Order: sequence, then C-alpha cells, then structure tokens
Amino acid sequence: MAERRNRPPRRGWLLRALTVMVTSLAGAAFAADPEAPAPDAEALKRLVHQDCGSCHGLTLRGGLGPDLRAETLQHYDTEVLTGVILDGIPDTAMPPWRPLMNEAEAEWVARYLLTPEEDR
Ligand code: HEC
Repeated sequence: MAERRNRPPRRGWLLRALTVMVTSLAGAAFAADPEAPAPDAEALKRLVHQDCGSCHGLTLRGGLGPDLRAETLQHYDTEVLTGVILDGIPDTAMPPWRPLMNEAEAEWVARYLLTPEEDR
C-alpha cells in the first residue's frame, strides 16, 4: 500500500491522450486543403456558363459584365484571376464567389477561363 503513494498521478495519460487527439484533429483540419476532393470539373463548367454567364453572357462574350473569353483575359495570370473570382470587384456588380467555392475551385475556374475555348 505504501508504495502506491509514490506513484505519479494517474491522470497524466488522459491529458496526454487528449493532447494527442486534439493535435491530430487540428492537424487534420489544416491538412484538409490538399486532401480536399478535386474540383468537380463538370459542375464548375456548368457554373461558369450559367452563373457567370448570367452576367457575362451565356457564351461569355460579355453582357452586363465584360467579355470573359481567354483572349480578352490575357492581362490576368491565374493567381490574380483566382483572386478576382474569390473576392469580386468592389463597388461593381461583380460579386465575390468565396461563399460558394473554395480556392481550388476558383483556381480551376481561372485556368478554365484562361484556356482558349478550342483547347478546353
Ligand atoms: C451579378 C453579375 C455578375 C456575375 C454573376 C458575375 N460577374 Fe464577373 N463581373 C461583373 C461585372 C459588372 C464586371 C465588371 C466590373 C467592373 O466594372 O470592373 C465583372 C468583371 C469580371 C472580371 C474582370 C474582367 C476584366 O476584363 O477585367 C472577371 C474575370 C469576372 N467578372 C469573372 C467572373 C466569373 C468567373 C464569374 C462566375 C464565377 C462572374 N464573373 C460572375 C458581373 C458579374
């Protein structure tokens, strides 16, 4: 009985187990991005032609919003274009798409728009 008093408190393992659980959960959350499912190309194509098309014209040649054909977007690189899609253009009708798509999807849309129609 006497030797029991010298043992370290037994709660230690629980704390360690919890720490391991919490850090691996946090790790999973931060690592989630690269493991996120690949953008759904068919769904995004539909979105570009229907949702973007509702302002930019169904053939993307311009409407309320400007022409979005690859040849007219050559002043953009993928990164800047991704930013325009995610954040919109303040004080204009171009809305931010961040609430509706993640960065990988916005980048997919940017690459899609920068690819000439005949190469898509
Ligand atoms: C509610 C209407 C609306 C919708 C929907 C919309 N846009 Fe726009 N967009 C605009 C307007 C208006 C402008 C021009 C803003 C300005 O005056 O600079 C614009 C500008 C842009 C530009 C800049 C073009 C350039 O030549 O600089 C890009 C790129 C763009 N939109 C992409 C998209 C994409 C991709 C989508 C769909 C994910 C989308 N837009 C959906 C209205 C819209």
